[in-house]
Amino acid sequence: MEKSEAKKRIIKLRSEIARLRSAYHVENAPGVTDDVYESLTRELGDLLSKHPEFNDINAPENRVAGKPLDKFVKVEHKVRMLSLNDAFSYEELYDWEKRVKKLLGGLTAKLDYFCEVKFDGLAVSLIYENGIFVRGATRGDGFIGEDITENLKTIESIPLSLTRRGGRGEVEVRGEALMSKKTLAKLNLQNEKEGRILFANTRNVAAGSLRQLDPQLAKERHLDFVAYDLIEKIPTVQSHSEKHEMLRSLGFKVEKLDAVCGNLEEAITFIKKFEKVRPDFPYGTDGIVVSVDNLKLQEVLGVVGKAPRYMAAFKYPAERATTIVKEILVNVGRTGVLTPLAVFEPTMVAGSLVGKATLHNMDQIERLGLRIGDTVVIEKAGDVIPKVVEVLVRMRTGKEKKFKMPESCPTCGGKIEKRELPAQKSVAFYCSNPKCPAKNERYLEHFVSVFEIYELGPKILRRFKDEGLITDAADIFTLKKEDIAPLERFGEKSAENIVAEIENKKKISLSKFLWALGILHVGEETARDLAIHFGILEKLMSSARQDLAEIDNIENIGPAVLKSVSDFFKDKNNLNFIKKLEKNGVGIEKAENRKKGKFTGLNFVLTGTLSQMSREIAKERILTLGGKVVGSVSKNTSYVVAGAEPGSKLKTAEKLGVKIINEKDFLNMLG
Ligand code: IVH
Repeated sequence: MEKSEAKKRIIKLRSEIARLRSAYHVENAPGVTDDVYESLTRELGDLLSKHPEFNDINAPENRVAGKPLDKFVKVEHKVRMLSLNDAFSYEELYDWEKRVKKLLGGLTAKLDYFCEVKFDGLAVSLIYENGIFVRGATRGDGFIGEDITENLKTIESIPLSLTRRGGRGEVEVRGEALMSKKTLAKLNLQNEKEGRILFANTRNVAAGSLRQLDPQLAKERHLDFVAYDLIEKIPTVQSHSEKHEMLRSLGFKVEKLDAVCGNLEEAITFIKKFEKVRPDFPYGTDGIVVSVDNLKLQEVLGVVGKAPRYMAAFKYPAERATTIVKEILVNVGRTGVLTPLAVFEPTMVAGSLVGKATLHNMDQIERLGLRIGDTVVIEKAGDVIPKVVEVLVRMRTGKEKKFKMPESCPTCGGKIEKRELPAQKSVAFYCSNPKCPAKNERYLEHFVSVFEIYELGPKILRRFKDEGLITDAADIFTLKKEDIAPLERFGEKSAENIVAEIENKKKISLSKFLWALGILHVGEETARDLAIHFGILEKLMSSARQDLAEIDNIENIGPAVLKSVSDFFKDKNNLNFIKKLEKNGVGIEKAENRKKGKFTGLNFVLTGTLSQMSREIAKERILTLGGKVVGSVSKNTSYVVAGAEPGSKLKTAEKLGVKIINEKDFLNMLG
């Protein structure tokens, strides 16, 4: 064949193969039999080997698993990847609607809702540049995920190039990577034959497969991808449903059942209808995502915390099963708190095997009236942790035993202290020994999980401690290959992997660093609030030493956090630990990205009621423009925004001579 003819034939073959691929993997409607598809692919391969000059790395035939990686690289999401607020009943959906309508005020008389199937997989983000798939990442903490491009390229339903001109520049598509129930069944059949452990559910295998460094392994798992969000603003796309249409025309698999509903009653009808077909649906699902369809209204509603206010995830009722409580163990947490844990006869619930469930605290055991040996009802909803919901008292034989919290720590024998928790109206039991090994172990586990040092699982950490390689978390960063390789069951390669991973994870953001410290009451969100407010560790530490005059002024941070942060940074041991981390090479990355805008450097205090927008929306607008919103007025306050019926903050502002503006001035400033 002549060169020019070969080129034409290659182009024809490529486009036909791409069409057939999409028909098979995206539309689920194969146009030809497998052997026809394979024959066309073979012809293309032959032609390309004769005319390698027509090879194109972005062509569909190059969807091959790349080389194994050493590690996953971090990628920052341009737009935060959010979570959803759950609604566990229709009533909760109505409550959500009420809040939405209140926030929208007079903006709309009628609301359309978009209902879509909530897939139970792994959220991923795909980036296309000039129509070509260039990068795919996991959600991670919503801000920063891991680059899993090579693994994603093995998923046939992810187009390597967009069918319609996806516009110039960058396009981001989000969706769920998942495994079909059929594929899981096939894999498990194979596992059974080969005497391997069976996979518990589709979600875990999908997530596990994408975390493999070798794309060949991901390829063998035959994953799938369903698109549900397009991040770009496109003038012709005015609603969430139009986004779905657009995604479909770009070549993505988009769920066909998804639909626009004219009101919440219709949305509930949709939910009920899907519930009937759910058991036979090809993928694992755990609910229906209901959104306000209009994108302008979505913008007005905005995001609070980690979740948008314009969406709610309706979750189908949890599945229940009964089992017998064999024993109640007591775990020691990283703060020393004792947590009772029920151990059952393992039972299948909601698609996975459940053998244990936390009982949280003594109150919970008393509320349930639970005894060891009782028959209980356990409940599990999708990815939710299983819990004991009821004791079947009639099933008692008389041999059941009451449970008592131990008087000394089950791990170290240390004295157990009781502490009142006035907010929860309950008591908690703590191991008072600061050197308790269980506490230490839990802390190490927490620490490596925040630092994302995945190579160091709980078993390895315990081993390293037992071998004397580490005494605290800071020692992790001085581990050498020579320390690990001689240990039984380790060897050169795994020692190398561990050390390389630790080296890679030495740099961390301030918010994660603070979270990793394990300060009582400082979880992920509070750590982020503190990091954004202070920007650098030294500022927070010096403020803590001065009893946190400044922390006092951050909204959302209450007295309990205040006290524990202040206590933490006054404790010499903690300061030494931080020094040791620094000495061992842990570095805090540049300051947290606070948004820059025309309000940068300005502090606002809100008081009274605004008529045009809720207080939360006002707060968000200020934050987006780079400003801060603080809880109380001081001489550092730039503006006090006074709505109707302002509180005492107005008086303080007058006294201190702080500038006071009314709602109209404020709206003008927002522009
Ligand atoms: S919309 C704000 N639609 O659910 C996040 N999410 O619980 C926008 N999910 O992280 C999500 N199917 O991974 C949306 N049809 C669907 C979904 C879906 C599954 C997942 C997604 C998200 C999680 C939140």
